[in-house]
Amino acid sequence: MPCSNADPLFLILGFHSKQRQESLKGEAVFSDCWLSLRLSAECVKMNLLAKTPPMGWNSWNTFGPNISDALIRETADTMVNEGLLDVGYEYLVIDDCWSLKERNAEGHLVPDPVKFPFGMKALADYVHEKGLKFGMYSCDGTKTCAGYPASLEHEFTDAQTFAAWGVDFLKYDNCYKPTSLEGKLLYRRMAMALRATGRDILFSACNWGTENVETWIRSTGAHMWRSTGDINDSWASIKNLVLSQDDHEPFSGPGCFNDIDMLVVGMYGKGNVGFGGCNDTQYKTHFALWCMMNSPLMIGCDIRVMNEITKKILTNPELIAINQDPEGRQPYRVRPSMASDTEIRVFVKPLLGGDYAIGFFNLSDQKVSPALELWDIGLPASSGCGLMLHDTWTHEDIGVFYESIQPVLDPYDCAVYRATLVLP
Ligand code: GLA
Repeated sequence: MPCSNADPLFLILGFHSKQRQESLKGEAVFSDCWLSLRLSAECVKMNLLAKTPPMGWNSWNTFGPNISDALIRETADTMVNEGLLDVGYEYLVIDDCWSLKERNAEGHLVPDPVKFPFGMKALADYVHEKGLKFGMYSCDGTKTCAGYPASLEHEFTDAQTFAAWGVDFLKYDNCYKPTSLEGKLLYRRMAMALRATGRDILFSACNWGTENVETWIRSTGAHMWRSTGDINDSWASIKNLVLSQDDHEPFSGPGCFNDIDMLVVGMYGKGNVGFGGCNDTQYKTHFALWCMMNSPLMIGCDIRVMNEITKKILTNPELIAINQDPEGRQPYRVRPSMASDTEIRVFVKPLLGGDYAIGFFNLSDQKVSPALELWDIGLPASSGCGLMLHDTWTHEDIGVFYESIQPVLDPYDCAVYRATLVLP
């Protein structure tokens, strides 16, 4: 992806190049045109995948094994026609169960001809023509989690196959991995195989947070990494995943984001992981948490039949802007006063340009009113400063607050503000 003039990276490169111009003064004259060309070349050379958390759709949560060429084409059409691509959802990912149960005589993976009668290249071409990117799935063990052939000892062959099909994203699971082999070795290996293809393929590592993955995954070359077990479409699952992430915040950032699994917004209990479903307040809070916690946003519902509320949640531009903030800073957690810390989460995230995102999340089934003391985020009363709060759900400014912020939250509800510092 080329850099734009507004891109911070572009500005940094520009700065370095100017320094170099200074150091070369008298030896050469650099025209603006030359400088732009040089910057473009540098941008292209650098790996710019996952500058912000990846966004897209994945087949697993709703469809499990029931995937097909027609489903993927219809989903691609919907991503474009319903404006999902416009707000950033660009990867369309086929999860497990896409291949035959055996490799062919040459040792290659073969798409199931009943599910994918035109093959993967034709499907990838269709997805690309829509302006989307195409993702697929494999695994570091002898079989995928659903029992299909996986990539152990076939990493370089499979990476070449994926590249030849036009794959832009590989989710790489962790089932049937020999216990004698360290995960880090196998993720390094597939990362290297993908890089060897010369194609930009976003590497989505999925070892469910095991083997202290946060300490080594970035250095393998992965661009996102599952820091949790599997989500299912229930409030208990969402809550467990969020609470399991305490203290993970420092391990996420541009180039490699922690993934708290795919979204269940809009599933309403239907489909492969539809374990009972959630209500709209719970889906709203789930989405806001994923945005605030810098998780990749991979939609998991059947968008071909999504209702208006689901669409409104998934396309909330102010929450997506927090998730996709170009500075890519992770949030930090603040312990609230006036409420128990066990079922309330309060996060603060610095944003590009000086604003802050502040999120209050009620994970409990009780009405609560947690307070954030501004002292805890760097604003003592003696500073005389306040925060102008803008509500990201109602899209309204709600006033300037001093010393503390204390929203009232219904069961399972949240409040997420964009806060601007107001000087005395
Ligand atoms: C694992 C992963 C899921 C999904 C399934 C497919 O459980 O964590 O996200 O990919 O495998 O079998």
